[in-house]
Amino acid sequence: MLKITKKKIAAKSNLDNYEKAYKNYSLEEAKKEISYFPGGKLNIAYNSITRNALNENTKNKTALIWESEAGEIKEFTFSQMENLSNKVANVLKKHKVKKGDRVFIILPRIPETYYSFIGIMKTGAIAGTMFAAFQEDGIFERLKKSEAKFVITNTELAERIKKNRQKLKELKYIFLTDIGISGGEDKLSLPEEMESASASFQTVPMEPDDAATMMFTSSTSYTPISGVVMPHQAVISQHLTAKYVLDFKEDDIYWCTADPGWITGTVYSIIANWSNAVTTVIYEGRFDAGKWMKIMEKYKVSVWYTAPTAIRMLIASGVDGRKYNLDNLRHMCSVGEVLQPDSIRWIKENLKVDVCDTYWQTETGSMIVANFPGEKKKIGSIGRPVPGVIVKIIDDQGKEVPVKTEGNIAIKPDVPSLMKTVWKNKKMYDSYFKHGWYVTGDRGYMDEDGYIWFLGRKDDIIKTSGERVGPAEVESALIEHPAVIDAGVIGKPDKLRGEIIKAFVVLDQKFNPSDKLIEELQQYVKKHLAGHAYPREVEFINKIPKNKSGKIVRRILKAKDLGLPEGDISTLEDD
Ligand code: WTA
Repeated sequence: MLKITKKKIAAKSNLDNYEKAYKNYSLEEAKKEISYFPGGKLNIAYNSITRNALNENTKNKTALIWESEAGEIKEFTFSQMENLSNKVANVLKKHKVKKGDRVFIILPRIPETYYSFIGIMKTGAIAGTMFAAFQEDGIFERLKKSEAKFVITNTELAERIKKNRQKLKELKYIFLTDIGISGGEDKLSLPEEMESASASFQTVPMEPDDAATMMFTSSTSYTPISGVVMPHQAVISQHLTAKYVLDFKEDDIYWCTADPGWITGTVYSIIANWSNAVTTVIYEGRFDAGKWMKIMEKYKVSVWYTAPTAIRMLIASGVDGRKYNLDNLRHMCSVGEVLQPDSIRWIKENLKVDVCDTYWQTETGSMIVANFPGEKKKIGSIGRPVPGVIVKIIDDQGKEVPVKTEGNIAIKPDVPSLMKTVWKNKKMYDSYFKHGWYVTGDRGYMDEDGYIWFLGRKDDIIKTSGERVGPAEVESALIEHPAVIDAGVIGKPDKLRGEIIKAFVVLDQKFNPSDKLIEELQQYVKKHLAGHAYPREVEFINKIPKNKSGKIVRRILKAKDLGLPEGDISTLEDD
């Protein structure tokens, strides 16, 4: 007998036809998807939650389905999200939050993270998030740099602020989400405060250019970490890319596995999914292949956004996707690292869908290149520019290079979601713009059909398990250890994680290389900087290669690692 399976491809994608959509794109049309206050002002939070809570058709629709690591399930409608985020906004207002203040969330994937993020933006303050794997030094650097006024976290994570608390002069209050605690004088219980707060709030109308969010990301020039500031008008690009690339339909159940500590987890797991009024699943727990499949089956996930490392981990786990009922899954996208052909094949065989690779950065605020549902894909290509974004491959002088020629991936900087500033670091911000282009720092080429092929980073930024790590931060953490007098850190290609962090370490003469010491250094970085940023490999060497101005030349370490000729260090020019 013939087995009839549900047709998985949406009858018609929202994009309809790529060439037409790209050619006919108009910013004015795109803006019509967004709700404005008088005078052309807007607010991301209003677009993501409030307008759906005010709409008869969506106010009682489920916005968030949340499952905890232990299996507890909670659901929230758009109205409930509206009320909870209003309460957070009122709590912040009571404590005198001002437009432009930085409020950071350091929490796991729990409902508080999501409605607090919206609540912060409602007040006109800048919402920031931090990956909960960061430890005291990683957190301190970010809170200090951003001059954060409030932090929303829990008792366990707040311990990591303790050591440096006195040095954080701008930090007024730490709100704790754990019920019933009342900490020291600078700690307040968020649930207690919310209890007495009103559930109505007038969202502050913002200018399109006003700052909405701040995400810290890693770089290798000027500064190891930068607070990338995204404006409220970003929601125009975010909404549209989600509609076209994630291809949301009214009844979709959407799951994005990205942590809200990173850009994908805020833009496409809070902002653009909800501005499209889509029911969103959040699973608090860690990666677990079987559990992930069960989440997809149980909640009838229809659109899934994940990362190549997660796909490789699914493959490595030996899980058989065909054993689960994934009939509802009709569309899937990937982001953050190179998506390998065997991953695409595995997904097709196991989950019965095509993966659409998407390419963007924290700094661009939304997808800039993507593969579109229903459109031709070329395996290995990151796709074509999204409507509204002019992408070119340019040389170092800003000149467009011929097709199939390697160069810098660059965009015209008129994209609404592109960062507005790097917090208090104009030099860093300016360094991205050259000859009228925003230059991504990635290398690639374009083929004769306009498809873009990603070749790698131009700088030394590491992508490990899809998470962006700056080598300088890891080097600084290592150097703090008494045994280390110098360190150089690189990304080493890895089958599962894309790259792993490898550290080359010069030891103080009083210490001898040993496996025990390696383990100690790893633990040291885990404890002080972040659980995700420790070197999985450590090699002891005598000298770290530096150029004339004392900058580490990591490409020599990379060559050394790959067993390639290292060249003559003494003749190195300044990079
Ligand atoms: C890399 C993540 C290959 C790239 C949204 C970029 C990718 C950096 C892809 C940004 C892709 C992103 N294929 N590499 N599809 N997408 N990258 O800021 O090097 O965490 O510059 O933003 O990830 O990482 P970020």
